[in-house]
Amino acid sequence: MSKISQRPGAAATAMLGLGIYRPERVVTNAEICEVLDSSDEWIQSRTGIQRRRFAREDETVIDMGVAAAEDALKAAGITADQIGAVIVASTTQGQHTPHAAPMLADRLGSRAASFDVSAGCAGFCHALSVASDLVRGGSAEYALVVGVEKVSDFLDPTDRSTAMIFADGAGAVVVGPADEPGIGPVAWGSDGSQSQVIRQEPRCRQVEHDQQPVIAMEGQAVFRWAPFKMADVAREAVASAGLELADLDAFVPHQANMRITDTLVRNLKLPEGIPVARDIADTGNTSAASVPLAIERMVRDGEAKPGDTALLIAFGAGLSYAGQVVTLPPVAGL
Ligand code: COA
Repeated sequence: MSKISQRPGAAATAMLGLGIYRPERVVTNAEICEVLDSSDEWIQSRTGIQRRRFAREDETVIDMGVAAAEDALKAAGITADQIGAVIVASTTQGQHTPHAAPMLADRLGSRAASFDVSAGCAGFCHALSVASDLVRGGSAEYALVVGVEKVSDFLDPTDRSTAMIFADGAGAVVVGPADEPGIGPVAWGSDGSQSQVIRQEPRCRQVEHDQQPVIAMEGQAVFRWAPFKMADVAREAVASAGLELADLDAFVPHQANMRITDTLVRNLKLPEGIPVARDIADTGNTSAASVPLAIERMVRDGEAKPGDTALLIAFGAGLSYAGQVVTLPPVAGL
C-alpha cells in the first residue's frame, strides 16, 4: 500500500477582514402594507422590524456578494489571487446550476475552488466553520466566505408570515492563518423532522415572463424551537471554546425576529451589559447575510470593536443551526 502524504495546515485561524453590502432601497413597513394586510404597529411589535432593504430588480446575488467580498479582501489586506477557496452561503440565487460561487470568484478575478453552502439562515456560520477547517487542514491558505441573499425575489407580498420579515443584503469575511485561535469550535446540528416549517412552495410569484416559487413559513413553529434550542447551542459553543458567557464582549444571533432574540437572551441568561446585535430593526431578516451585517452594525455603532470576543449563532430552514465564538475582524471602511 502506498503512503499518501497529507498537507499540514495553519495551527490557528481567524476572520481577517469583513465587508458588507446593503442595497440602497429602503422599504418601510408602510410600503410593505400597501400590499400586505398588516400595519406598521403590528409589524414592529411582533418582529421589531421598522424597515428593511430590497435589492434593485436588476441587482443579483452575485452583484451583492462581489461588493461585500471586495471590501472583505481590502479589510484583510489580501488580494483575490491569494484566496484558495470561495464559499457562498445563499438559498436565493435563483438557480441550482450553475452555483453562485464560481461566478462570484470570477468577478473577483479568482480561479479558486468555489462552492455553495445551502443551510438556510444558518448558512454563514456553517460556511465559516468549513472555511476555518479548510485553512487548518491545509486545503487553502485563505478562504473567502460570503453570506448573501435576495429573499425579495422569493416573497409573496401578500403572505402575512413572510412578506414583512425577509430582506436582502450581503456580508463576507476572509478566513486565514492567525497567531491565536480566532474562530472557536462550531456547535451545530439539524432537525430534519421539522423540514416543512420553512420551505419553498410552488405557489408562484410572477417575475416578468417567468414564475418563481415563494418561501413559506410556519412562524409559530420557529418561535417554539429557536429561542430554546439555540440557548443550548450557545452554551455548547461557549463551553467548547473554553470560555464562559461572562467572557463575551458581544452576542450576535441571527437576525430572525427581535422577539426571538429577546427570548433567547433571557433563556441564555446572558450577563447584563453584554451588547446584543439588533440590526434587524433597520435591515429585516437577511437570512445567510444577517450575521456579518449585524457584526458590521455593532462595530459601526461602537457597541463592539475588532478584537472583541463575540458569540455567533445562526438558525433557520432545515431546520439547521450553527454557532461559534469568534474574535471580531477589522471591518472595511470603519
Ligand atoms: N399582520 C397583521 N396581523 C397578523 C399578521 C401580520 N403580518 N400575521 C398574523 N396576524 C394576526 C393573525 O391573524 C392573528 O390574529 P387573531 O388573533 O385575530 O386570530 C394574530 O395576528 C396572531 O397570529 P399568529 O400567527 O399567532 O402571529 P404570531 O404572533 O406568531 O406572529 C410571526 C407571526 C410570523 C411574526 C411570528 O410567528 C414569528 O416571527 N415567528 C418567527 C419567524 C421567524 O423569525 N422566522 C425566521 C426564521 S429564520
